[in-house]
Amino acid sequence: MNKQYYVNGEWKSSMDFAELQSPHTKGVIAHIPQATREEVEQAIEVADGARKQMATLTAYERAAILEHIAQLFIDNRQQAAEIISLEAAKPMKYALGEIDRTIETYKFAAEEAKRLTGELIPMDAAKNGANRFGYTIEEPIGVIGAITPFNFPQNLVAHKVGPAIAAGNTIVLKPASQTPLSALFLAELIDQTALPKGAFNVITGSGRTVGDALVESDKVKMITFTGSPAVGIGIRNKAGLKKVALELGSNAGLIIDKGVDLSDIVPKCVMGAFSNQGQVCISLQRAYVMDDVFEEFLEQFTVLTKQLVVGSPLEETTDISAMIHPSEQERAVNWVNEAVEQGAEIVVGGSIDNGVFMPTILTNVSPTLKVSCQEVFAPIVIVNRISSIEEGIAAINDSNYGLQAGIFTNDIQTAFTASKQLEVGGVMINDIPTYRVDQMPYGGVKESGTGKEGLKYAIHEMTETKLVVWNNN
Ligand code: SIN
Repeated sequence: MNKQYYVNGEWKSSMDFAELQSPHTKGVIAHIPQATREEVEQAIEVADGARKQMATLTAYERAAILEHIAQLFIDNRQQAAEIISLEAAKPMKYALGEIDRTIETYKFAAEEAKRLTGELIPMDAAKNGANRFGYTIEEPIGVIGAITPFNFPQNLVAHKVGPAIAAGNTIVLKPASQTPLSALFLAELIDQTALPKGAFNVITGSGRTVGDALVESDKVKMITFTGSPAVGIGIRNKAGLKKVALELGSNAGLIIDKGVDLSDIVPKCVMGAFSNQGQVCISLQRAYVMDDVFEEFLEQFTVLTKQLVVGSPLEETTDISAMIHPSEQERAVNWVNEAVEQGAEIVVGGSIDNGVFMPTILTNVSPTLKVSCQEVFAPIVIVNRISSIEEGIAAINDSNYGLQAGIFTNDIQTAFTASKQLEVGGVMINDIPTYRVDQMPYGGVKESGTGKEGLKYAIHEMTETKLVVWNNN
């Protein structure tokens, strides 16, 4: 079926189409328009033209539009989840969970739209500030280019579209090549709201053509990107003076202290390591477990991992399905083989079975191996033994990334020390690094990126602060 892209409230066709295949069955599920640079530039022109009308909307109106989008997702929950499951092979239970989060994300955006305030500046605190009254206004930044990943094709889009609308901006969205159907479904929903036509546009096509046109356009005032460090750094280098927010992934680490109750921790770790086939930026990739509980943890973790149900993403009982592309599954196998050649041991998994890369636990893994020091983005987790918390903190910090980390401990001082010393954007005490709710600030340090998502924080990134000073002298 030939799809169309969405610009200025209209559905448009391109000359070129690319086949979209199901990652699970490999069958063709749609033909996706491959926009040319000129078509992207037209979309940017439209978004630029819609800025004035968007800026006339009141906070009340912007919030009502966002509430309406949330309601449309409530009404179409099953269909939206099935689209994710079909194009991304995300098991239905997680796809439905993603839609529930998407609904919350748009609701939080609606609430934040109503609290978008500036501040009073105490002008007379300066020697030359007497009899002046100063305040700031948060103004929309203009056209936002949003480039989104395949792993959360609705909720990570919502994290860019929601705050952009809340702040009064217009948007050109380029979804990941493997997950355009979710973005086009969003366009169908937004088309039913009172959002001015042209304020939200979806362009499909190659990263090079569409992405470059967005990044290089002077009319686009901000790029918000989630994806790989290589692409993110390329965007920053080409973006000139436009604002850039980058969410670039990690090799998230967890410390498990002695004396903890593993019965609650192990199921959380299985979820953190393997949900969405480990294709999550804060997926649990490295577990550092204290000597005293290491054997017991590894045994229980292995037992539960072996119980995961592998199969079609469309079945609600499925826990694990295919990764996004066969080449990614081959990469995962190669990384495991490299690790084994250099002394790591496979506890479970490590190969492809019936077209699915199986959930994999490795132990005794050296920190220089790819499965440890690079972002694995696959259902692979390493479990290494530590004999002190300091060793665990040092191991987590020995990384080019720093998005989120976790620690399970009964000792309050250990928790304080870890929260202070872990070099990451977010520390989860008594939880896995994979924990996220959508209003919290989310973003990393080092090569994990710059800028924060989470509605209030993203809105701040998507506005310009204007100062007004009245002189009463
Ligand atoms: C991500 O992969 O960065 C998003 C994780 C999440 O929203 O749970």
